Amino acid sequence: MSGAASEAQPPRIAFLGLGWIGRMRLEALAKSGAGIVAALCDADASRLAETAQKHSTAETFSDLDALLKEAGDRLDALVIATPNALHCRQGLAALEHGLSLYVQKPLGIEAAEVDRLLDAAQTADRLVEVDYTYRGLSGAARLRESVESGELGEIFYAEGVFHNAYGPDKAWCFDPALAGGGAFLDLGVHLVDLILHSLDCPEAEIADITAWRRDLADHPGIDGFTALNFHLARGPRCRIMTSWHAHTGKDCDFRLTLFGSEGTGEIRNTGGSFFDFEFLRKTGRNEEILAADHREWMDRGIIAWSRRLAEMKSYNASAEINRRIAKIVDAVYDR
Ligand SMILES: NC(=O)c1ccc[n+]([C@@H]2O[C@H](COP(=O)([O-])OP(=O)(O)OC[C@H]3O[C@@H](n4cnc5c(N)ncnc54)[C@H](O)[C@@H]3O)[C@@H](O)[C@H]2O)c1
Repeated sequence: MSGAASEAQPPRIAFLGLGWIGRMRLEALAKSGAGIVAALCDADASRLAETAQKHSTAETFSDLDALLKEAGDRLDALVIATPNALHCRQGLAALEHGLSLYVQKPLGIEAAEVDRLLDAAQTADRLVEVDYTYRGLSGAARLRESVESGELGEIFYAEGVFHNAYGPDKAWCFDPALAGGGAFLDLGVHLVDLILHSLDCPEAEIADITAWRRDLADHPGIDGFTALNFHLARGPRCRIMTSWHAHTGKDCDFRLTLFGSEGTGEIRNTGGSFFDFEFLRKTGRNEEILAADHREWMDRGIIAWSRRLAEMKSYNASAEINRRIAKIVDAVYDR
């Protein structure tokens, strides 16, 4: 199915990687009816069989090459939810078969990969979206609107914090060849995305990047704690801090604050939760909670992408944001 998605028909989507996030997004999309779960692929046979039981009309494959060769022309898009270092290679293969993409973050583990993938998507003229899940918060939409309307005035400083007291429990996350990095690549990319997305500057030039990384003992290249500063040309200075297992006194500490000349906008989690968030506007010594989110926000991204895909498969300039994010990733990991 290499031409345009037929109008109003839900796109036919293949899911590659049926682990924690892959299955969550698959179930959300299936429930929404915004896309058809047309094919499943995972290297782990038991996971594949378990998912196939629930989605019996989907074709099943244990490897991507076979999926693309045998079913590629019956598909519109591929959702990639495999370990980080596989995203670029798998995305390129799918683009060669004319498929659009929904890729778990990070799009690639270094800027060269991200550039290669986006260049290929541009050439193939296919939609590429990355699952920057926190954009689904209604608070994220409110923050963006507050910037756009001028209500916060000139944004001169952005500060983001994302501490996860648990860290991951999967072996690949500690293997630099598969993970490409640690806490920053896992959590920090969400904050960089939210800053650029809120300011609506996906193609902004980024300068003066300085990063300090503390790698996990016995895992060089896998950061447990990272502090980063950078400057957006004609925009704010930015500071980000991320960690796994730091002593932060709660499960999760998430905050993104944009300081403006007329007010401050902030998204933050509540009660140390990974799921509950609020958006606040602060003026002088007053603060007002303007939005609250509980869980339902996590699936909005894939549903919105699938609906967009049903209308148009063309390359989206908004994907350019990933080149900027990858430039920062390279600075953090000395690439
Ligand atoms: N958007 C978010 O907020 C968010 C949250 C968590 C994870 N993620 C990202 O999602 C991705 C997957 O993370 P996860 O926690 O679900 O990992 P996971 O280990 O639970 O799942 C990965 C799956 O990929 C399969 N796999 C590995 N290599 C494969 C291959 N070559 N072909 C087919 N299948 C293969 C594995 O068998 C496994 O089922 C990572 O890139 C991670 O950074 C994003």
